[in-house]
Amino acid sequence: MENDPIGIFDSGLGGISVLSVAKKVLPQEDFIFLGDSQYNPYGTKTKEEITQRCIAICDWFVAQHVKAIVIACNTATSACVDVLRDRYEIPIIGMEPALKVACEKGPRQHIAVWATELTLKEQKFARLMDRFDDEHTIYRVPCPQLVRIVEEDRLDQETMIARTLNEYLHQSPKVNSIVLGCTHFLFYRNALKKLLPQDVHIVDGNWGTIRHLEDILNQNGQLNDHGGGIVWKNTDPSKIELSKRLLKRMEEIIWD
Ligand code: DGL
Repeated sequence: MENDPIGIFDSGLGGISVLSVAKKVLPQEDFIFLGDSQYNPYGTKTKEEITQRCIAICDWFVAQHVKAIVIACNTATSACVDVLRDRYEIPIIGMEPALKVACEKGPRQHIAVWATELTLKEQKFARLMDRFDDEHTIYRVPCPQLVRIVEEDRLDQETMIARTLNEYLHQSPKVNSIVLGCTHFLFYRNALKKLLPQDVHIVDGNWGTIRHLEDILNQNGQLNDHGGGIVWKNTDPSKIELSKRLLKRMEEIIWD
């Protein structure tokens, strides 16, 4: 039904960056955001462990009668999007690093994909690389520390953040674009921009994912026109207050 909410989940709080875009594009929808912070990070877990968590979360969403589920997590999508699509009848919207967008910026691009260890080693990403690495140079950079800092509420520690980002930048030699292939990394967009030369693009999949969600709901005649609420859930309830602050923080992000 069009008045039913949309479920959005992540391994923790990174998916709030996706929720923020969803609120802008679909202001009249109701959302349930579920962060799995008790089990964070997913990036260093096995595919089987992540699949088990995602099934538990999506079973719960279905019991809440959501009309669609957004996996606001590249890692969870890599691990089990096909399993989830087979299991449920409602639309399951996944995410993957927006490598195509970066490759379309010009010929012979040098691109660093920042993501979790699991995303970068999974078959799904290998297939994505295969489509583009003949014509472009692609570097894989796992950035686990950038997940931890968000979960630990340390985004205000500017000096430490700049030092950490610089460490990862040193692993990505001169590039045209950095692809933020993990939803936690969107919170660093402004800080990263300050450290990069002006002509380096920062690319993410948040807007593309939500536009895809909008298309699907539209095709199914399921767009809501009088909602607008958010229900907050977290497997670690102590993270709810931080979650709300992170949604506000996303308002300060400067998009290109
Ligand atoms: N936010 C997640 C992603 O987009 C992963 C973070 C983690 O749990 O390691 O990949």
